Amino acid sequence: MARDILVTSALPYANGATHLGHMLEHIQTDIWVRFQKQRGHNCIAVCGDDAHGTPIMLKARDAGITPEELIAGVSAERQRDFADFHVVYDKYHSTHSDENRELSSAIYNKLKDAGHMTSRTIKQAFDPEQQMFLPDRFIRGECPKCGAPDQYGDACEACGATYQPTELGNPVSVLSGATPVERESEHYFFKLADFEAFLRDWTRSDHLQEAITRKLDEWFTAGLRDWDISRDAPYFGFKIPGTDDKYFYVWLDAPIGYMASFLNLCKQRQAQGEELDFDTFWKADSDAELYHFIGKDIVYFHALFWPAMLKGAGYRTPTAIHAHGFLTVNGEKMSKSRGTFIKARTWLKHLPAEFLRYYFTAKMSGKVEDLDLNLDDFRSRINSDLVGKYVNIASRCANFITKRFDGELAGTLDNPELFQRSAAAADEIAEHYEQRRFAQ
Ligand code: 2FM
Ligand code: ZN
Repeated sequence: MARDILVTSALPYANGATHLGHMLEHIQTDIWVRFQKQRGHNCIAVCGDDAHGTPIMLKARDAGITPEELIAGVSAERQRDFADFHVVYDKYHSTHSDENRELSSAIYNKLKDAGHMTSRTIKQAFDPEQQMFLPDRFIRGECPKCGAPDQYGDACEACGATYQPTELGNPVSVLSGATPVERESEHYFFKLADFEAFLRDWTRSDHLQEAITRKLDEWFTAGLRDWDISRDAPYFGFKIPGTDDKYFYVWLDAPIGYMASFLNLCKQRQAQGEELDFDTFWKADSDAELYHFIGKDIVYFHALFWPAMLKGAGYRTPTAIHAHGFLTVNGEKMSKSRGTFIKARTWLKHLPAEFLRYYFTAKMSGKVEDLDLNLDDFRSRINSDLVGKYVNIASRCANFITKRFDGELAGTLDNPELFQRSAAAADEIAEHYEQRRFAQ
């Protein structure tokens, strides 16, 4: 029976170029989606740029353009990168879209009406020169634990400590160099703990990889805290309904962007006279399957906030979250200073997309492990597997079929048993694909 399957990759932030870390995820998704489509399922893949937030607003300001101009440029570049890596989405949309504005407001209102929102006044660092509240990453100072200078407002890169920005010694605003002051502001919170019983059950019912479920157990033990979903102006995002100057935090409308992207596709298909129904995929009792491919760093958002939001707003929840590890290069985190922070476009200038796709495929296990692009190993695998075996067999066969058999294949199989053995492995191979064990 043909399955209805909706697949997403995490929406990349619209403030930077596509890099090989992105490609690891998008290639993994693309292989899985191709597999499902080839099996005849109604598999639809959507993605888009994650266009909101302070960094995007400030980057546009620095470049002397509007955020809309910035995200349009990044989106065009990104779609070229994906196309050149043969990664195909049925829809590549943006969180800064009409569909997303409508869905985000509607979901917020449903959660609010059901009593899952609350508000209170909190104190936050404020830049008196720039006249804006500062996200943790825009404050630097001395680590309160080890004293290391010039550390971010949320964590120390020297000793690993995490803390509040107010605990930093001699803090400065990254934007202006001014000393931040504390200022009060009313914020809106999503009451995650309302969903504790649901989430405890959901996170243990085959929607997640085992390693992720274990990680979540730690978070449950630590307690589910209210989630701050509002930000003060100036902010590039959607205004919260019923307020004058409060915006949805980028992470509130980002996952709703998955729905928005799909909704845009539904409208497009319907305009072309084709059937694709939003509710079939998103209603609470939907029979369709929904899969999110993500990196392990954003599990909290996808395995806690997102299912809780969907549940609270009366939608279906994900069938599964497919989390993967990070990409390392020669065994280390990608780094600009070591020259191992490789952009998708840089790769394409030097090497074919297929070589990277093959290398990733040959190492993908479906587990939440990091994947290393070791450049020596890369060279030898391409030479031995692709050139030495795959291409070599094709080229030799082509040669003797042409020279000795007039370019014609036999009308019957010379060894039907061998063919049967290969064909009989189909189910087992399909199961490896289904479980993302591409290396197998
Ligand atoms: O971590 C990130 O890059 C985010 N932009 C991912 C968002 S995924 C989804 F929720 F939109
Ligand atoms: Zn420290």
